Amino acid sequence: MFNTAITIALRALSTFYAPQKPLVFSGAGAAQKLADLMIRSGQKRPLLVTDSFLLKNGMLNELISFLENEGCTVTIFDGIIPNPTFAVVEAGLKASRENSCDAVFAVGGGSAIDAAKVIASASTSHKTLTQLTGILKVDRPLLPFYVVPTTSGTGSEATNAAVISDTQTHKKKFFVDPKYIPIATAFDTGLLKSLPAPMTAATGMDALTHAIEAYTSRNRFADTDRDAAMAIKLLFEFLPTAYANGSDEHAREMVALGSFLAGCAFTKASLGYVHAISHQISAHYNTPHGLANAILLPRVLRFNKTTCAERFASLERMLSDSDETYNLSATDLSDRFIARVDALAEMVDIPVNLNDLQPQDYRSIAKDALAEARTSYAVPRVMNRNHVETILESVSSGSRDVTFA
Ligand SMILES: [Fe+2]
Repeated sequence: MFNTAITIALRALSTFYAPQKPLVFSGAGAAQKLADLMIRSGQKRPLLVTDSFLLKNGMLNELISFLENEGCTVTIFDGIIPNPTFAVVEAGLKASRENSCDAVFAVGGGSAIDAAKVIASASTSHKTLTQLTGILKVDRPLLPFYVVPTTSGTGSEATNAAVISDTQTHKKKFFVDPKYIPIATAFDTGLLKSLPAPMTAATGMDALTHAIEAYTSRNRFADTDRDAAMAIKLLFEFLPTAYANGSDEHAREMVALGSFLAGCAFTKASLGYVHAISHQISAHYNTPHGLANAILLPRVLRFNKTTCAERFASLERMLSDSDETYNLSATDLSDRFIARVDALAEMVDIPVNLNDLQPQDYRSIAKDALAEARTSYAVPRVMNRNHVETILESVSSGSRDVTFA
């Protein structure tokens, strides 16, 4: 059984408002190349959106000196916090307006990039933040918007969406519009290699989840298949090295590109039940997004196996260097692919269970996860409440090898 209505709606959105890819700079010094592009494009009053950790540790000194030496007036907004709120965006907007900023230059993780997207939009809009909330609500072109991600997982540098927390309703508010895609992005290995190993693992597995959910979405396209498959290949090959040796700049760069391609794929194809369930787990227990996804992914792959065997098999053929894959059935190959995901999770020390889960919360987590999937994702196989609760029990008990009635 498929969720036909949302699949048709997403297909129309992806077709008529197809997201464009940002221009990419990559490697050592990429952030300065991006800054140079901004300056050559005529913007010299950027709002630098970042967090106080990066600023205080001197990681942005070179970039700021470069901008100032090139004649820019830089306004620094370092008020970014995890799960940024409307108040954070308002503060950034105030800084942008008071200093007549003509561009937004974000350096940071998904929180900085998401907040910067809405600041760039609100800076030129006649609408309030509340009026900008939702799908296709942007009324004017954003301030020119540039992004330097310092984590590799959210894919926010490639997506058409931002998530801001509403502290009054305790809900996440989504801002979705193709205009939120940055003009250009830079994967600067000098900044990326500072990401600690546990965050490298969790965000890398989040990126892998984006790619697999896009590849198995019923709203997939030829370009999303290509981007997702390349992302999966890069992440399997380079995430273990980036995790074990964070100063390996080549591995860092390849993981960042994998995360970017996964972001390009899912912003057009949509996500699936890993995200639908993990969002509710994070809301209940404040579990980091990447970690919740990493733990859920093997369970949801097993649920999808009956409808996605051919898709998983094609990924296994791509990843395997053995000729014998051509003699194996799709079912055998999909089992091998799932075992490969299990092995990757073990290599980067993802735990098999979450101790925080409380059985009395299962019903409400399942209800909200099913509602999110029904209204947002073109999933390959529809779950019911029992399926979600079976997954939650397995996440609590610690067995990845879950079976479904
Ligand atoms: Fe994610």
